[in-house]
Amino acid sequence: MFTQYTFHSFRIGLVTMILVMAVSVAPAQVKGSAASKNKANELEPLNMLVLGDSIMWGQGLRDRDKFRNVTYVKGYIEAAPLPDGVADVVISNGVINLAVNKAKVFREASRLLGPGGRFAISDIVTEVQLPENIVCNSTLWAACIGGAAQQDNYCRAIEAAGLRLVKVEDNPQYQFISDNAKGASRKFGVKSISLLAVKP
Ligand SMILES: C[S@@+](CC[C@H](N)C(=O)[O-])C[C@H]1O[C@@H](n2cnc3c(N)ncnc32)[C@H](O)[C@@H]1O
Repeated sequence: MFTQYTFHSFRIGLVTMILVMAVSVAPAQVKGSAASKNKANELEPLNMLVLGDSIMWGQGLRDRDKFRNVTYVKGYIEAAPLPDGVADVVISNGVINLAVNKAKVFREASRLLGPGGRFAISDIVTEVQLPENIVCNSTLWAACIGGAAQQDNYCRAIEAAGLRLVKVEDNPQYQFISDNAKGASRKFGVKSISLLAVKP
């Protein structure tokens, strides 16, 4: 069965299998903030693989809310224990900035997609290259700032992985919380973007 889905403002199109890179929360959140079992049933046709380094909490919520088509796979987004071309769509929200080797993550996304597959993500990037004292600050890394890549380099790495960029949009509504993070955000242009790329 095919289902029509969107991510951010991007129309994803017809989908049978979606791969989520690292989500720690309920499948309901990914499937459209559906909290009730009824909603879960409406969304049932979508097959979803959720790849992450910590999956137990999500598995528990999946079982509680009876999402039957969601499979959790324990692994790293840099080296997924999944076959080539397994997904029509790979989505990820606020995770890739935490990966030290982003080029490797993008190569994995490309490998996991079949021809014509979509890579639709939101992530944190920067306007200017972060200095070493920010990159080496573990608190800022955990706040999704220290690991953020410069936007042009980020996009180039996606294309180098064999994906064609279709659209990149800023998410100005995304705000950092702590004063430290807000300061770094202002100084280095740290921001949230959403991006759509296609595997030719
Ligand atoms: C900032 S949270 C992302 C939030 C997520 N989008 C959600 O809605 O829950 C980061 C998540 O990615 C996982 N993670 C971080 N680095 C990872 C990696 N290299 N491989 C797999 N999972 C990773 C963390 O365990 C955590 O669950």
